[in-house]
Amino acid sequence: MKKVVIAIDGFSSCGKSTMAKDLAREIGYIYIDSGAMYRAVTLYSLENGIFKGENIDTQKLQKEMDSIHISFQLNPETGRPDTYLNGINVENKIRTMDVSSHVSPIATLGFVREAMVAQQQEMGKAKGIVMDGRDIGTTVFPDAELKIFVTASAEIRAQRRYDELKAKGEEASYNDILENVKQRDYIDQNREISPLRKADDAILLDNSQMTLSEQKEWLKAQLGQVAEM
Ligand code: DC
Repeated sequence: MKKVVIAIDGFSSCGKSTMAKDLAREIGYIYIDSGAMYRAVTLYSLENGIFKGENIDTQKLQKEMDSIHISFQLNPETGRPDTYLNGINVENKIRTMDVSSHVSPIATLGFVREAMVAQQQEMGKAKGIVMDGRDIGTTVFPDAELKIFVTASAEIRAQRRYDELKAKGEEASYNDILENVKQRDYIDQNREISPLRKADDAILLDNSQMTLSEQKEWLKAQLGQVAEM
């Protein structure tokens, strides 16, 4: 089977990453979580005095962009890639509410997006990649052979994130999470550069009422059609 590029975009917390990771593992592709890259830049900003309250010192961040190195390494225990920031495993740190509530404004900055998109395109050169995010099918890989756009209701997505944090033993309030999900939807869809939107040739998947195994079957059927091309 020829190797292709699979772009999975959609709203936050709608299960894109789980879906993309499982698919990549099953078909022997590389999985890249592009959101983790924006989260890593956000973590760097929080830890290096780039946030002044809610304001971002964009000049400082722009100057320091070259010293922010993000990479992924397969975790043999989970079988999934962990995110590294300047050589340190930050997989857990980038999933906290603190990072979640600061990431959207970082992801609206043009110079941050340019740097991330360039790295992502480099990673996709050899094909055989599944990447998930917001602008993968529209900006990063407009020629991807398979594009999926995933959505689910805000309430269902908030519940999923709440369950995820609880399972990790983190304190969380469902209402705060719902508010955060809605706020991120708004920022993601309304930002000037690469707003979240479905590419014209992406296939829409609303998984609000789907189980994981139903979703998997659905995805395999879509891939089957591309592989037959
Ligand atoms: O998918 P996620 O929740 O981990 O993404 C974190 C943030 O990064 C989210 O606010 C949207 C942004 N993002 C983006 O702007 N472009 C991408 N390709 C991926 C994520």
